Amino acid sequence: MKALLKVDPANQISTIDERIYGSFIEQLGRAVYDGIYQPGQATADKDGLRQDVIDAVKKLNVPIVRYPGGNFVSQYKWEDGIGPKEDRPTRLDLAWRSIETNQFGLHEFMNWADKVGTKANMAVNLGTRGIMAAANLVEYCNFPKGSYWSDLRRQNGQEKPYNIKTWCLGNEMDGPWEIGQKTAYEYGHLANEAAKAMRAVDDSIELVACGSSSMDNPTFGDWEKTVLDQCYDNVDYLSLHRYYGFYGDDDPNELDNYLGKNIDLDDFIKGVVAICDAVKARKRTKKTINLSLDEWNVWYHSNDQDAKTAPWQKAPHLLEDVYNFEDALLVGSLLITLLKNSDRVKIACLAQLVNVIAPIMTNDQKVWFQSIFYPYMQVSNYGKGIALTPKVDVPTYKSREFDAVPYLDSIATYDKSQKTITIFAENKNQSEKIDFKTLFRDLDVEQVIEATQFYGYDVKADNRDGKMKLQPLNATIDDHEVKAQLQPLSWNMIRVR
Ligand code: AHR
Repeated sequence: MKALLKVDPANQISTIDERIYGSFIEQLGRAVYDGIYQPGQATADKDGLRQDVIDAVKKLNVPIVRYPGGNFVSQYKWEDGIGPKEDRPTRLDLAWRSIETNQFGLHEFMNWADKVGTKANMAVNLGTRGIMAAANLVEYCNFPKGSYWSDLRRQNGQEKPYNIKTWCLGNEMDGPWEIGQKTAYEYGHLANEAAKAMRAVDDSIELVACGSSSMDNPTFGDWEKTVLDQCYDNVDYLSLHRYYGFYGDDDPNELDNYLGKNIDLDDFIKGVVAICDAVKARKRTKKTINLSLDEWNVWYHSNDQDAKTAPWQKAPHLLEDVYNFEDALLVGSLLITLLKNSDRVKIACLAQLVNVIAPIMTNDQKVWFQSIFYPYMQVSNYGKGIALTPKVDVPTYKSREFDAVPYLDSIATYDKSQKTITIFAENKNQSEKIDFKTLFRDLDVEQVIEATQFYGYDVKADNRDGKMKLQPLNATIDDHEVKAQLQPLSWNMIRVR
């Protein structure tokens, strides 16, 4: 099989907002406790933050981390997590039916974010709480001084405001599982009022309203329209959440279908964009609402185990999916899909980051990387600058859910400041190599800086044994063309200058 990708700097999708490489830490399972925070662990610093986890997160170059939930936030009282630790209450976490000691809260998270070199994407509780609790949190975090909440922050050891820019107005408020679920009208109205109050405290913040928690929810579509009708003028982004699972082990063709699920994400994104723009037209406004895919990943491996987990534990093992090679391939093409939609998707959070449906896992002794760590690391480190429209002719296949899945998924990004071009390419063919060529228009490329391939593993193999590694890919440049052979079922990255 052959494929030619034409890379032309004149054909641009968009400048990439680096926040699309965000991730997510929820107070859930072992994400925080025994994950990023484990006082007494061999690498933990004086604040109880694990240095080995910090080092691992730094490799991923995560620009923004959503916190503290997730379902958790819809029943959370943020004031429980501030002030002297000995005074903080232990509560029942009703979302995950766990024990929450509140030994980790806002200040601990911001301290961790600072050490990791990331920014917060802070969620407020619009499930069981409302307008003033949200506005007070903005005051606590962002107001300089001289008011009740800002002075309390200073008293609690943080003199300077945190200046958190990105805020989520609740979480999955359409979901029947969510504590404080609302109708679209109820939520849209509340989001609008909370947004007004939060912006009154700090008008520099950006706000994300909850869209649908899944395209499969029966309210999808109507939800977006009704919510935006209420809060369009006071929010900046609409969220969407999407998780995938492999549910056809008995069917030999299911892998083809699984690897095509990026088409579902593309459809979901384009559907939400269409609704945002329809509301824009009806409102006769110039303002455009962009998207925040603030939860996405593969999530299914741990479901059976979680159903058996006893409630009311501290830091229980929950949502500890162990990812295999086929999951890494799907995550790779979902990342390419994000880049292809980077004109409208401005924030995205891989859910989640540590131990809970995560690229990074810990035990008491060490950290290990899951298969999905590698494509995420490469795209977040090198998928910078401008996403270029991929012009490529490639055969397609039909699968259970999708009529035409291209065997090759690819995109190039152009970093003008570094004068580099990075190509991400995934071969979904299970048996054939792709003779891959890239033709550059109006770009003088002379040198391959780095070329890697991720392939050769059993699709069901995982990285618990630490054997999964990126391998060198033999890529050459000749006459303005990069040439490489993409192995069957492979994720590839080629960086040129
Ligand atoms: O990321 C795990 C959970 O998935 C989040 O808490 C919730 O928002 C979603 O349903």
